[in-house]
Amino acid sequence: MKIATLVGSLRQNSYNLQLALTLQERYKDKLDVDILDIRSLPHFDQDKELDPPDVVQRFKAAIAEADGVIIVTPEYNWSVPGVLKNALDWCSRGERVFVGKPVLTMGATPGMLGTVRAQLHLREILSSPGIQAKVLPPGGNEVLVNMAMNKFDPEQRRLVDEATLTFLDGVVEKFIAFVQEHTVQPVRA
Ligand code: FNR
Repeated sequence: MKIATLVGSLRQNSYNLQLALTLQERYKDKLDVDILDIRSLPHFDQDKELDPPDVVQRFKAAIAEADGVIIVTPEYNWSVPGVLKNALDWCSRGERVFVGKPVLTMGATPGMLGTVRAQLHLREILSSPGIQAKVLPPGGNEVLVNMAMNKFDPEQRRLVDEATLTFLDGVVEKFIAFVQEHTVQPVRA
């Protein structure tokens, strides 16, 4: 199963990047996790939305070709980082590559609230007319990794907290089933 992953932090030692790397490694037998580059995307420019720069076209193609998308993001000022919103804005115009796409969101923070406000905003953004993603419903599926400094190993650059990993295993299983459920089967002659 091909999973495109967006990380909302550009920081080298980002906990959210480490969470994405954990997904890539831990579920490699089930998921082909490709962490996409959002750093190189120019600022969204509506004058270019129908003929976006090559780097944007490649980015959108990677989303279009994926079976599902996992967004791993910190919370900046009670919302999603601008760099992530910028990537989503490109995807919402011209070819709307998120429409019907299964999406799982998650986030990590050294704070107590585990990016909950950012995740709530992200769910709203993902429901907008230009995006219309199929987000794994909440109700036990919220991956909100708080107190990150106690849950990641800075040497391995991976999530190592066992309770959180066990919870993550369960959510990823549910997401795999969700993707299978929402994959449009090719029509056979
Ligand atoms: C933050 N941080 C933060 N944390 C939080 O829980 N709620 C918030 O609203 C914010 N706001 C915020 C704004 C900005 C501009 C920065 C740089 C940081 C702290 C943030 O969670 C922390 O820096 C994380 O470590 C960022 O994630 P990465 O880079 O480790 O993935």
